Amino acid sequence: MNQLDFFKHIKQGIPDKLPPKKKYNHSISHAPLKKHNLSKDEEIIALKNALRYFPKKQHRVLITEFKEELDRFGKIYMYRFKPTYKIKARDINSFPHHSKEAASIMLMISNNLDHSVAQHPDELITYGGNGSVFQNWAQYLLTMRYLAEMTNKQTLVLYSGHPLGLFPSNQYAPRVVVTNGMMIPNYSQPTHLEKFNALGVTQYGQMTAGSFMYIGPQGIVHGTTITILNASRILKKKSNDIKLFISSGLGGMSGAQPKAAKIAGLISVTAEVNKKAIQKRFQQGWIDEIATDLNQLIRKIKRAKKNKQIIAFGFHGNVIDLWEKLYQEKIFVDIGSDQTSLHNPFHGGYYPNKISFTEANSLIKKNPAKFKTLVQQALKNHVNIINKHSKKGTYFFDYGNAFLLEASRAKANILNNDGGFRYPSYVQDIMGPLCFDYGFGPFRWVCLSNKKSDLEKTDKIAETVLKKLLKTASNDIQEQMQDNINWIKSVKKNKLVVGSQSRILYADSNGRIAIANAFNQAIKEGEIGPIIIGRDHHDVSGTDSPYRETSNIYDGSQFTADMAIHNVIGDSFRGATWVSIHNGGGVGWGEVINGGFGLLLDGTLKATQSLKSMLHWDVNNGIARRSWARNIGAIQAMKQAMKQEKLLKVTLPNIVDDELIKGF
Ligand SMILES: NC(=O)c1ccc[n+]([C@@H]2O[C@H](COP(=O)([O-])OP(=O)(O)OC[C@H]3O[C@@H](n4cnc5c(N)ncnc54)[C@H](O)[C@@H]3O)[C@@H](O)[C@H]2O)c1
Repeated sequence: MNQLDFFKHIKQGIPDKLPPKKKYNHSISHAPLKKHNLSKDEEIIALKNALRYFPKKQHRVLITEFKEELDRFGKIYMYRFKPTYKIKARDINSFPHHSKEAASIMLMISNNLDHSVAQHPDELITYGGNGSVFQNWAQYLLTMRYLAEMTNKQTLVLYSGHPLGLFPSNQYAPRVVVTNGMMIPNYSQPTHLEKFNALGVTQYGQMTAGSFMYIGPQGIVHGTTITILNASRILKKKSNDIKLFISSGLGGMSGAQPKAAKIAGLISVTAEVNKKAIQKRFQQGWIDEIATDLNQLIRKIKRAKKNKQIIAFGFHGNVIDLWEKLYQEKIFVDIGSDQTSLHNPFHGGYYPNKISFTEANSLIKKNPAKFKTLVQQALKNHVNIINKHSKKGTYFFDYGNAFLLEASRAKANILNNDGGFRYPSYVQDIMGPLCFDYGFGPFRWVCLSNKKSDLEKTDKIAETVLKKLLKTASNDIQEQMQDNINWIKSVKKNKLVVGSQSRILYADSNGRIAIANAFNQAIKEGEIGPIIIGRDHHDVSGTDSPYRETSNIYDGSQFTADMAIHNVIGDSFRGATWVSIHNGGGVGWGEVINGGFGLLLDGTLKATQSLKSMLHWDVNNGIARRSWARNIGAIQAMKQAMKQEKLLKVTLPNIVDDELIKGF
């Protein structure tokens, strides 16, 4: 399709004339079929809701089709309306627009739905099994039309993918404000998501899916590398042998584990029940060998340990069977984790052992109650075998997939005598104290020229800035900075760009501001094109999640969500180009509130002011909160931040003497 036709398609939004019905595309990955939980009356509401996007004359045809979709897929995706043009990140000027800010958002949305990026593109799902960009194709079409016609005097409002409309605002306001899955708290159970999503009034936007900030596997490879690297550092204090890492999941995010383990210098085995997923990672080169036979795998692990060979194995099978075999064969596992999609345990996120993958998929639809019982029994077995390994010294941690939470709900033996979990979350032991408390988090950028050469120039700029900052950085953060300098130096070799020309690294407030400022200067001088900066929500400030991002907060406030809400409100009036706030993301619906932003750097003075003010708030809000929760690293970091910025005045905690409080 040529440029003119593409413009025409975007500008028309929902087409006046019905496009031809599409055949179900069997060659791509699809979301698991679901059984909706709507009553007859609610089905009628779901149909009426879907039809309100279309002119009356089309209702007769669409009503039958949408009813079929509801019955077959558990919700209405409106497959017929998926555009025939290729959806992908293009040069920003290739999107029709009156506002550069709006065009940058079109690029980011398009990247999230690109077939080479998205997990289930036809269902508008970017990652995590159910992380949606929009609920249906009508919402996509309408949103793109609004973005194409809007000016910098308007703001587009999105309610869980639904474009409520363009509202007058001003050039300093965000161009788009996104909410995903915001519910009245008492209506935020997983069954509510199923129902209200089937009705077409809410969605699970995960983190970077519904906020348009996904940059393909690179983001997760980086985060996972930092986690595994630091986990093995903790253990290195005991011995210098090459460590064995066992986990599961080779899906959207989890698939990063073997690649990250290799970058971090470990032997790894990752179990995966889905043949397509394991093959994808093998073809990509992220796993070196696929094993289907456990005896053979054990021999290979022994050999790799003996020869100190850093290698990534994929095991095609259930992770419980893998853990059990390793125990029988007396193989010592140094580090263990799990990245099945337990945020979504009963709809295909977690596969019980003892039944095949195909049987499990058919049971999800035919007998969901039986499937749920099997999942809960499997979780009990899963925990039992991990407990046995742990007794021998394996360091096991929860990887932010709600493993501990769902295991406890299944009544597995996962609690210690105090009623807490036996195992830490990776944030409690690793990311919290080493990164988040100091403001280190996932700073990312996307080159809107879509040119590889621009990305390479920005890599160099970032490296130079970080090296300069390293010279005066305090001892507490030297290691984190050096890890990220090493990362940026080797990114080209690791070939991680899929989709848009984007990059991620971890930096603190000073680092993020300095890098963004240097980019803006380079844009002003014409060295590179415009850039979007942002982050994922797995960060110091954006996310309140008691079993993940805020699991290393121990003053009781880990169950509050003030930080995330303040985060987006604060970002929105400090210059963000768009902001988003989500229920769910990572550990699941009802378990987390997370906020994000995107900011356009276009070389202007406005961008310089916005980046300084907004990034400073975006990071320091979280450090201040962590400091108030008595986290020692965060108290130090906050004192340092106040020394640097005289306008910053944060309430610091007084720490009560342990001896004094003991008797009460
Ligand atoms: N900690 C983090 O930084 C982080 C980041 C991203 C995702 N997550 C969480 O990790 C989970 C996985 O995310 P994803 O995007 O990879 O999801 P995904 O659904 O794409 O992948 C999970 C994979 O696990 C496999 N699986 C399920 N049960 C299994 C079993 N018993 N044995 C072996 N394989 C099994 C599935 O077949 C699937 O391919 C999610 O809950 C997500 O929220 C955590």
